[in-house]
Amino acid sequence: MSSANSHGQQKHTCVVGMGWGDEGKGKIVDLLAGDFDVVIRFNGGANAGHTVRIGDDAFALHLLPSGVLREQAVSVIGPGVVVDPAGLVEEMVGLESRGIDLTGRLLISDRAHLVMPYHKLEDRLRDSGSQGKKIGTTAKGIGPCYAEKMLRSSAFRMVDLVHLDRNTDRLRSVCQRKRSILESMGAEEASLNDEALTFDGTLSMLQSVRKKLAGHVRDTTTWLEHSVREGRNLLFESANGMLLDIDHGTFPYVTASHTGLNGVPSGAGVSPHLVRRCVGVSKAYATRVGNGPFPSELHDERGDRIREVGREYGTTTGRPRRCGWLDAVTLRRSVVLGGVTEIAMMHMDTLSGLPEVGICTGYRLRGQLIGSIPADSDDLEAVEPVFELVAGWQEDVSHVRRFEDLPVQARSYIHRVEKLVGATISMVSVGPERNQTIHRSR
Ligand code: GDP
Ligand code: IMO
Ligand code: MG
Repeated sequence: MSSANSHGQQKHTCVVGMGWGDEGKGKIVDLLAGDFDVVIRFNGGANAGHTVRIGDDAFALHLLPSGVLREQAVSVIGPGVVVDPAGLVEEMVGLESRGIDLTGRLLISDRAHLVMPYHKLEDRLRDSGSQGKKIGTTAKGIGPCYAEKMLRSSAFRMVDLVHLDRNTDRLRSVCQRKRSILESMGAEEASLNDEALTFDGTLSMLQSVRKKLAGHVRDTTTWLEHSVREGRNLLFESANGMLLDIDHGTFPYVTASHTGLNGVPSGAGVSPHLVRRCVGVSKAYATRVGNGPFPSELHDERGDRIREVGREYGTTTGRPRRCGWLDAVTLRRSVVLGGVTEIAMMHMDTLSGLPEVGICTGYRLRGQLIGSIPADSDDLEAVEPVFELVAGWQEDVSHVRRFEDLPVQARSYIHRVEKLVGATISMVSVGPERNQTIHRSR
């Protein structure tokens, strides 16, 4: 068991994304997880795609916490996660086939909700553009599953999977009702008649995944309470990013959960007073996948260059990510709202070779400088970014391991961002590998 810090305090930590996802949370969680006993996912579901690179091996994790690659750590999927059970089994089998043993190392909350096959079809139909604004979701059934959870009576949880025989009648009637809802939403005959969507197909899928999952399901809330009492250190891993938060993100172009430290107490099932350290992960630039406002987006060859050099293509959907300059306005919001105590700045290597690097320091709306982020997505779409351009660095920095060895322009850029957003950048990442990380002494 890893010990408390030098002051005898436990060091429970949360890692959150400060943008629209894909900031590099997987790398940072894997890096930190070596010093933790438990790694807990508390929000989202298989919409997440967290990449961990270890030498020539790349792991794309969707539902399993990124601490799963650290042998000493127990992985927990908390009550706030929405679990696609077949997807989870596929991910587990995939890791086991690569020699990663999950026996006794994976716990799934009995209270976590199940993403059902009809949620995924509903997600696609709702996001077709004919039902309102097209969000560009990952089509993993996330929104419909969280909506079902709020409706309560028709929702299924892990505990229902364990007691499947007690829930068969309810499943039959929900599947029938869903069929007519999906039909009224314009589902094609072929999709509706897909075996996977019928009651029989759904039941047999659940029966089959139950065998693999039931042994991992338990009351993780009580287990975490004991763990804290026994002095274990907990690391919480957010999915998505703070600008995708259901309440505080760029609504409606957001996901359906609380993506920051705000999501930890309820989504993981721990005391709101537990976590004191919150590492906000941000790239040295900004990206977004899916639709929605992105004030600092670059629509020119500089954006294309960042996409190609940074390999900015989605881990979950393969979609090209939109790229732009770092946005100090939204980053500052994420620091304040997210209780971010330090920042990990990723992809400094990707910006090498640019003559100038931009930072968005403010927004103009209809010619006026505004001091806030508009709630109306059309207004946010319409803002003009105010850019500050600073000198770029030409050297390849991927081999740099000490802050003072970074080119002076790169150091100035980091200092400038710290000043603008009001938080310390404690880690600078210069490549996807664990060791391509500069740890700054505090
Ligand atoms: P997450 O969803 O926040 O975990 O991020 P993703 O895994 O979706 O996307 C981040 C991508 O950037 C992954 O392919 C990582 O391997 C890669 N990556 C992380 N940090 C760095 C870095 O500092 N430099 C480079 N070049 N790649 C990085
Ligand atoms: P990680 O954890 C990037 C985006 C989708 C879409 C919106 C809603 O890898 O950082 P959803 O399927 O959640 O209803 O989609 O949110 N989105 C992400 N973008 N990274 C993610 O996760 C994302 N999770 C959701 O692209 O715009
Ligand atoms: Mg990702």
